[in-house]
Amino acid sequence: MPITVLLGAQWGDEGKGRITDALAESADIVARFNGGDNAGHTITINGAVFKLHLLPSGVFRPGCLNIIGNGVVINPVNFLKECDALAAGGFPITPDNLQISEAAHVILPGHVALDAARESTHGGLGTTRRGIGFAYSDKAARIGLRAGLMRRPDQFAQAVRAHTQRVNQILARDYGCPSLDADALAEQYAHAAQRIAPYVTNTARTLHRALAEGKRILAEGAQAALLDIDHGTYPFVTSSNATVGGVLTGLGVPAQAIDRVVGTAKAFCTRVGDGPFVTELDGELALRLRGSGANPWDEYGATTGRPRRVGWFDAVALRYAAQINGFTELALTKLDILTGLDQVLICIAYDHHGERLTDFPQDSAVLAECRPIYEALPGWSEDVRQARCFDALPAAARAYIARIEALANVPVTMVSVGPERDQLIRR
Ligand code: GDP
Ligand code: IMO
Ligand code: MG
Repeated sequence: MPITVLLGAQWGDEGKGRITDALAESADIVARFNGGDNAGHTITINGAVFKLHLLPSGVFRPGCLNIIGNGVVINPVNFLKECDALAAGGFPITPDNLQISEAAHVILPGHVALDAARESTHGGLGTTRRGIGFAYSDKAARIGLRAGLMRRPDQFAQAVRAHTQRVNQILARDYGCPSLDADALAEQYAHAAQRIAPYVTNTARTLHRALAEGKRILAEGAQAALLDIDHGTYPFVTSSNATVGGVLTGLGVPAQAIDRVVGTAKAFCTRVGDGPFVTELDGELALRLRGSGANPWDEYGATTGRPRRVGWFDAVALRYAAQINGFTELALTKLDILTGLDQVLICIAYDHHGERLTDFPQDSAVLAECRPIYEALPGWSEDVRQARCFDALPAAARAYIARIEALANVPVTMVSVGPERDQLIRR
């Protein structure tokens, strides 16, 4: 039985965790293939709000095996914190329901310190300061530490110490930052490694066996198309492939095994961190879409708490994401947030110095100069939060969704009208 892939179609925070949790109900395995604890995936179960950073969103489904694939970067200390918090919430994590790839790379304290130091300079990108870019840099430079080494705590401690000493030189030379305590960190990380070692295994082999046995696998993306290191708005991107190719390299599964690619898009756009954002709004309307922070779903980062930038739906960007990923369907989230607006705008093209662009520019400098060309649709005032079938939505909301489908050339098969498990319409 083949693989379903769930991806972010915009700049992240589309509600991937919430849709993954829904699809995980009928999955045997949920596997993360990219990113690290820069992700913040929110799942709401009967009013209880859980925020996952590194753990796959299948952890709330009994009987579901969760995999952290080789394409992920793992902060051992934050991983254990997340496991402990979930156990306290009634969802214990054990080697029976979670496996970590021995080929996944480890985020070390030096990576986090370098990320924070660089963010404090003018060269910052607005990262989550989780050390993501520096861990992937070491992977590409072939000087990284892989999770498999956690099975040898003494060697792991030695490697953490050596890495920290090397980073201390860079921190002092390039940023004038104080040194990290290499010995204390080596001890702390060796201790963490002992707890993590039982989870570490060959996850590609697990997945190959599962495929042979006809199990249902769900690949859960972190971040999103426009944050992809190759296809996103470089350099304002994350350091992994958040698009469909990341599934193949980040899990070690064959392309033919993928038969369904679900893009998750929010009914408007948000972005957290720096970088071009053509449909960005400010003023009253931005406050209205962002919310005050009083509701758990208001637009404040799940990982950093930063207010998210907000804007109208960008169909140019969505079409681009659909082309790169080959979305077979879309899940549209947060439709309820648009209720009460007189009209809703969709960006259908960009104006670049008088030229009309319908293809998303790969050059971020060009993108930054683009102005949105909008199409206005009537809004709706009816509360959609209780709708449980598509026909129960107001006609104007259905027309809005139909227009998005037509512009992206992908059917919307799921519509989310609230964060709770039952607030999901499947068509
Ligand atoms: P992810 O990173 O893509 O998993 O998304 P986040 O969890 O960072 O952000 C999505 C936020 O919207 C979370 O607070 C979700 O609980 C919330 N959410 C998801 N779908 C809906 C929806 O349809 N309506 C509302 N009001 N909130 C939603
Ligand atoms: P989920 O999975 C939104 C953004 C950061 C920054 C850029 C690089 O919850 O959708 P990084 O720490 O990765 O080096 O930061 O990427 N970013 C996200 N934005 N949602 C995320 O994850 C993000 N992960 C990283 O804000 O602009
Ligand atoms: Mg998020």
